[in-house]
Amino acid sequence: MTAIVPVAVVALLGAGDPATAGSPGATGAGDAYFPLAGNGGYHVTHYDLTLSYDPKSRHLDATAVLTARATQRLTRFDLDLKGLKVTGVALGHVQVAHRRDGQELVVTPRTALRKGHKFRVKVDYSGTPGPVTDPDGSPDGWIPTDDGAFVAAEPQGAMTWFPANNHPADKSSYDFTITVPKGRTAIANGLFRGAHTAHGRTTYCWHQPEPMAAYLATATVGRFQVEQYTTRDGVKIYNAVDPREAAKAAPVLKKLPSVLEWESQLFGPYPYRAAGSVVDHAPDVGYALETQSRPVYDSAPDIATLVHESAHQWFGDSVSLTRWKNVWLNEGFATYAEWLYAEQHGGLSAQKAFDALYARPASDDLWKFPPGDPGSGKHIFDAPVYNRGAMVLHELRKAVGDRAFFRILRAWASAHRYGHGTTAQFTVLAERKSGKNLQGLFRTWLFTKGKPNKAYRPFRSA
Ligand code: ARG
Ligand code: ZN
Repeated sequence: MTAIVPVAVVALLGAGDPATAGSPGATGAGDAYFPLAGNGGYHVTHYDLTLSYDPKSRHLDATAVLTARATQRLTRFDLDLKGLKVTGVALGHVQVAHRRDGQELVVTPRTALRKGHKFRVKVDYSGTPGPVTDPDGSPDGWIPTDDGAFVAAEPQGAMTWFPANNHPADKSSYDFTITVPKGRTAIANGLFRGAHTAHGRTTYCWHQPEPMAAYLATATVGRFQVEQYTTRDGVKIYNAVDPREAAKAAPVLKKLPSVLEWESQLFGPYPYRAAGSVVDHAPDVGYALETQSRPVYDSAPDIATLVHESAHQWFGDSVSLTRWKNVWLNEGFATYAEWLYAEQHGGLSAQKAFDALYARPASDDLWKFPPGDPGSGKHIFDAPVYNRGAMVLHELRKAVGDRAFFRILRAWASAHRYGHGTTAQFTVLAERKSGKNLQGLFRTWLFTKGKPNKAYRPFRSA
């Protein structure tokens, strides 16, 4: 037998001190709920995605060019990509070694990338994309429909259709160039940059200038009726509606500009240059998603759902999570926006909504875990995150009064605009803006198991 010394060992031995030699980027972003989601060692500044999709064969042909910056000296790094076939990976113009390891696409540069180095990685890939099944049983990612695909990727499905640093901790701008058969429309995020048809196929161009988490990207394909206009505030609206949902969707979509205006009054300026809606007919999906600037709906939404997904543009999209554990910062806020909308538009008061939930017995699923600690990725979309998450905000509102409460919401949206926020940062901000000690309130409502034994009593008559 001949002794074969593995190449990697030779490289290490030859390189001397591993610190100056660099090290591989982590295989995940360090999120306990989804350990392999995202990657370490680099930050993606821009994704340029070129996709060609044939709804009939369900075949996708694609190229992704990622512009990134190394945050450590990198001997190797991962992208997240599940399924599909990778036919080439280039760094700059040089083809480099890659291998697949589950959902990791492992890229090895010829020489280590120095810390701070800006690089471009191009991935050619193709195949038949399909969704992943989330821990809660929902399909997530590229979900084929009878006329195209419904593309919604929270929390982990971005990797089903493009190689990504698939964690909201990393946000980037995007360009999309999507080719589909003539007669179908491909809708992505941000500004519509035009379409052209040749040889029976139409190419749609989209540009998302503000930073976006990978899970909020969409490239939904189908037969759609399209409507475009500009709001009084200069926001470019692009609505795409499956004709089967059009009659039901119309009266709700008509309210989008007024909903965005109303939310801007409460939360501060709308974060994006573009807005709109994609209303698909996708009965197998079972949810809507706040895809950035342009939510996707699996059927005609009701007004509460439109308000909810619109509120996420501030809470979740502009201010993003660093950990999925903090998901109440998305869902609790979007749910509370629904309560506020009802309260101010002739519906139930937020207090009534709160009371109806609080009346549920201690055995109800609402009290199964505290919203600040869902426990695992299986529970991030459960009732305690949405409803008890909204109850946290209602308790806060009662404790600090309306003026301070809305000051807190606006300060939150503006201090973390286009960035990230954590639960701890929110509770600190709430105390600072209100001048009150809120530790008991947050301990009870955010972090304590079981039904809190009494709701907060306002100190002032209200
Ligand atoms: N964030 C979406 C909403 O607006 C829900 C996404 C649910 N996704 C899932 N995989 N279960 O509430
Ligand atoms: Zn939501």
